[in-house]
Amino acid sequence: MGKDTLLPAASQSLLDPKSSAASEITDLWWFMLIVSTLVVAIVIALVVLALLRRRDKPAGDESGVARLGGNRLIVTGGIVVPVVVLVALFAFTLETLVETAPGSSEPGLTVDVAGERWFWNVRYRGSAGAVTANEIHVPVGVPVRVRLSTEDVVHSFWVPQLNRKIDAIPGHPNELTFEARQPGVFRGQCAEFCGAQHANMAFRVIAQEPDHFAAYLRRIGSPAAVPDTPAETRGRAVFLSQGCAGCHTIRGTDAEGDVGPDLTHLASRETIAAATIPNRRGDLAGWILDPQHIKPGNRMPATDLDGDELQALLAYLESLE
Ligand code: CUA
Repeated sequence: MGKDTLLPAASQSLLDPKSSAASEITDLWWFMLIVSTLVVAIVIALVVLALLRRRDKPAGDESGVARLGGNRLIVTGGIVVPVVVLVALFAFTLETLVETAPGSSEPGLTVDVAGERWFWNVRYRGSAGAVTANEIHVPVGVPVRVRLSTEDVVHSFWVPQLNRKIDAIPGHPNELTFEARQPGVFRGQCAEFCGAQHANMAFRVIAQEPDHFAAYLRRIGSPAAVPDTPAETRGRAVFLSQGCAGCHTIRGTDAEGDVGPDLTHLASRETIAAATIPNRRGDLAGWILDPQHIKPGNRMPATDLDGDELQALLAYLESLE
């Protein structure tokens, strides 16, 4: 059983579109598949026919071609049909490009997404402080503009059920607009090789009814919960004293690092390590103790906590709803 089967369900199928842009792409995909299949089938049939007929004809005999229409067949099959097919494909592709382009609808929300090593930083524009990672909540029926950036290497942002891919290119932010037409969880994946953990650089788009989304945005825009048990208080002290704060931010505390994901509302996320493992106590503990085992090459070092410190830290992180 793969580890994915333990993760909360999310679909990533191009053939199950959930936005009008993705539907355009799916239609183009089917059109290309059907047309190419027909063309290949006809060509193979003609080749087979030619092979069978040559057996009982002397070399140079062209009566078969003549019977099928002679030069007219060659002009039709070699020029007219390919031109018609290619022009149709070109027109359909152009139409799809227009329909899926950023700015095809006026965005109701802008999300700044940055490709990191190896996770996605997510920042809601206009909602000062609303920052998260690897989960993009969006309201259903509202065009959402994703503005994609990266500091170092090229990544590619792809949610097959919502729209096409866009590349994250250093120094050149790219944009994409999508509008989920129904609630759901849609898996996204980095689609450009970006280093050792490229394959473990996934994310989730969670489409919600607008009032649920508004409540979500208010929550993740607020500072972290204040510890209200002794274990949580101790866990916060562990977090601030053991080096975690050098890389992670927990808003409302002295932790202001910007190397790893913002953890202010970590407990509200379904997965950790860019949708690599579920966000459950045991998985989180394994990640904190030895992240290099789970995702070799990522920027988080192993920690050297004793059992009590680890339990306190887990209690604190699990309180960050
Ligand atoms: Cu990021 Cu591949």
